[in-house]
Amino acid sequence: MKSQLVLFSLVSIVLSASIFQSFLKGFEQLNSISQEVLQQDEETELIKLHRNLVEISSISQNETSVSEFLANYLKKQGLTVETQSIDDSGKRQNIYAYFGDSKDAKVLISSHIDTVPPFIPYRREGDLIYGRGSVDAKGSVATQILSTLNLFQNGEIQNGDVALLFVVSEELDGAGMKFVNEHLDANWDHAIFGEPTEGKLGVGHKGIYNFAIEVQGKASHSGYPELGIDANTKLINILHKIIHSEYPTNELLGNSTINPGIIDAGVASNVVSPIAKARVLIRVASDASKVVEIISNIIEEENQEYHNINLIQSQYSEPAYLNFTVPGFESIVLAYATDIPYLTRDFKSRYLYGPGTIHVAHSANEYLSIKDLENAVIGYENLTKYLLHKQD
Ligand SMILES: *[C@@H]1O[C@H](CO)[C@@H](O)[C@H](O)[C@H]1NC(C)=O
Ligand SMILES: *[C@@H]1O[C@H](CO)[C@@H](O)[C@H](O)[C@H]1NC(C)=O
Ligand SMILES: *[C@@H]1O[C@H](CO)[C@@H](O)[C@H](O)[C@H]1NC(C)=O
Ligand SMILES: *[C@@H]1O[C@H](CO)[C@@H](O)[C@H](O)[C@H]1NC(C)=O
Repeated sequence: MKSQLVLFSLVSIVLSASIFQSFLKGFEQLNSISQEVLQQDEETELIKLHRNLVEISSISQNETSVSEFLANYLKKQGLTVETQSIDDSGKRQNIYAYFGDSKDAKVLISSHIDTVPPFIPYRREGDLIYGRGSVDAKGSVATQILSTLNLFQNGEIQNGDVALLFVVSEELDGAGMKFVNEHLDANWDHAIFGEPTEGKLGVGHKGIYNFAIEVQGKASHSGYPELGIDANTKLINILHKIIHSEYPTNELLGNSTINPGIIDAGVASNVVSPIAKARVLIRVASDASKVVEIISNIIEEENQEYHNINLIQSQYSEPAYLNFTVPGFESIVLAYATDIPYLTRDFKSRYLYGPGTIHVAHSANEYLSIKDLENAVIGYENLTKYLLHKQD
């Protein structure tokens, strides 16, 4: 009897707890709905579009949802939208949008819709918006779209003036832009690319040479080094030469800089090292092919002795030199790379402009201010109008 009673009261406790929980849940839902309504009430179209974009996780290689969202959004706004699958999976889509049926446009406006990992949820604190991609580069995407829609609604641009292009994979390998370059059959006179530039015009940016070095040695007792081949000392010599070589420089972009970011070598202090690896990234101010040549020569020299060094190239791009003199705009020198060099079409001029600073991009603290967003809409409008009215 007693145990039945205990069982009964247990059941009733569990039951009432679950009723209470579902009540709580309902209350929470109500509460979050009313907060959402409240937030949407005070949200401009700009802030809402930016929020929608940041809320969708779109880490490189997982851009499907954000592409679908953007395609729908742009269609709803009356643009003609083409999606472009960059591989056989059909899941990685660039978006190309224009007014009416004029696929060619005087001004191409472009940015990227993928982000670096990890996903960081959207969070708004007063005038600041946090979250992955808030700056790099969904701030650019949202402001490029709204500036273009504003100009169209005000009758300041017509069919054939502006086309929008949003690509995937910029943060990984530029595969989205490379695909556009080969397969998008459209012509443009000028281009505006969107990345965080603090609302200034980027004068250009460095290229990249990213490579790994692998030295195969032969282990032996450290008391008898002549019995082994020391991979570590070899790697040290190579890195010393790499660090102290002279590289091409550029008036605007400054020096090429060398970062031996990873060194992984050896097994123990009393063993002659059988293996030594390093990964080096050079930010190239000028002539990336010359930089490749310098590195190859060093490796060749050091390889004379044992032929035990491998050079593995993983990323290579030339610097981009952009146009940056437009009345009313300041300029800025940038040290980061973009996918601009992969679009090798013949532009009369190319600009890089966007809200927010690269200093917070890729960080856990990525954020953008609402003021920056609002200014960028006006900035893109100004730049677009300038290019449309420019002679030549
Ligand atoms: C891929 O994106 C979807 C939609 O944004 C998201 O729900 C999912 O968590 C993402 N997956 C990974 C592995 O990031
Ligand atoms: C570039 O390198 C040279 C030589 O090392 C140095 O004198 C100069 O200050 C550097 N320039 C910049 C902008 O860092
Ligand atoms: C744009 O910049 C490029 C590269 O510096 C230059 O060759 C070109 O003349 C510039 N075009 C205009 C219109 O200023
Ligand atoms: C845009 O142009 C207007 C009118 O020339 C100017 O007053 C304003 O400062 C410009 N704003 C930006 C962000 O370029």
